[in-house]
This record gives sequence, structure tokens and C-alpha cells, in this order.
Amino acid sequence: MGDSLFSKECASCHVNKGKGRTGVSLYINICAYCHGRRGEGKSAIALNNQSYLKSISDKKLRELIAKGIPGTAMPAWGKDYKGPLSDKQIDSLVTFIRRWERLKK
Ligand code: HEC
Ligand code: HEC
Repeated sequence: MGDSLFSKECASCHVNKGKGRTGVSLYINICAYCHGRRGEGKSAIALNNQSYLKSISDKKLRELIAKGIPGTAMPAWGKDYKGPLSDKQIDSLVTFIRRWERLKK
């Protein structure tokens, strides 16, 4: 399901805009489509939720991003799972998302 995002017709936006980017710029260019620019959620759940972030480890976050969530629109982004992102890019997203845990809303 989510994997179709990586197909040729979709990759021009959903993958290529993230090429070579990390952190906030990577997030805004490929994650915000579904999770919102401020992580507020859109077609997919909010990520800037402090209780959610408190409940989840960096390791688990990294794993969710790398492997995706089968049966949903969340594809497997990690290279190890045939996705477009390197470990370094995924780590940079975890660091970026983690900042929302400390923000007051
Ligand atoms: C020209 C750029 C572009 C292409 C090509 C493109 N998209 Fe998107 N897509 C966007 C943008 C921009 C948004 C965010 C729309 C918004 O802000 O509401 C988006 C949002 C989405 C969303 C989340 C919002 C929703 O409707 O659930 C999905 C899923 C999605 N695209 C899938 C695809 C698929 C599958 C393809 C290939 C068949 C594709 N897109 C091709 C630019 C593109
Ligand atoms: C095409 C839409 C789409 C895109 C793009 C997308 N996601 Fe998701 N994501 C989802 C959906 C759908 C879920 C499943 C949860 C839900 O139903 O909202 C999800 C779930 C997640 C979860 C797990 C939440 C939980 O349930 O624990 C994380 C973390 C996540 N996404 C991070 C990211 C990151 C980081 C990116 C950018 C690399 C990204 N997502 C790009 C649609 C998307």
C-alpha cells in the first residue's frame, strides 16, 4: 500500500524532494504531506504529541520509520527495507521529531 509512494509516478515528489536532505528539511519535504508541517497530523496521526513521544523510545521510532506500518499508507522508508532513506537520514528524523517532546503547546 504505502510502497506505491515510491513508484515512478509518485517518487518525483514523495521521494526525490527529500534527496540529500536531513532533519527538519527532510521532514518538511517528505513527511509533512501526511503528518503535517508541525507534526500536528493530517491524513496521518500527529507526531508532536508529548505523551506519545514520552511513551516511545528512539529505537522504536527509528524502527517504525524504517519498517513502516504494513496495511497503512506509512511506507518502509529504510534502505534495509527497500526504502529511499539512509540510516543517517532516519536518525536525523528521530532527533527532529524528539524536539516536539519538549515543546509547550
Ligand atoms: C507533483 C507532486 C506530487 C506527486 C507526483 C504525487 N504527490 Fe502525493 N502529495 C503531494 C502533495 C503536495 C501532498 C500534500 C497535499 C496536502 O497538503 O493536502 C500529497 C499528499 C499525498 C498523500 C497524503 C494525503 C492524502 O490524500 O491521503 C498521499 C497518500 C499521497 N500524496 C500519495 C501519492 C501517490 C500514491 C502518488 C503517486 C500515484 C502521489 N501522491 C504523487 C504531491 C505529490
Ligand atoms: C503517505 C502518507 C505518509 C507519509 C508520507 C509518512 N507517513 Fe508516517 N504514517 C502514516 C500513516 C497512515 C501512519 C499510521 C498511523 C495512522 O494511521 O495515522 C503513520 C505512522 C507513522 C509513525 C508511527 C506512529 C505510531 O503509530 O506509533 C511514525 C513515527 C511516522 N509515521 C513517521 C513518519 C516519518 C518520519 C515520515 C517521513 C519519512 C513519515 N511518517 C511519512 C502516513 C505517512
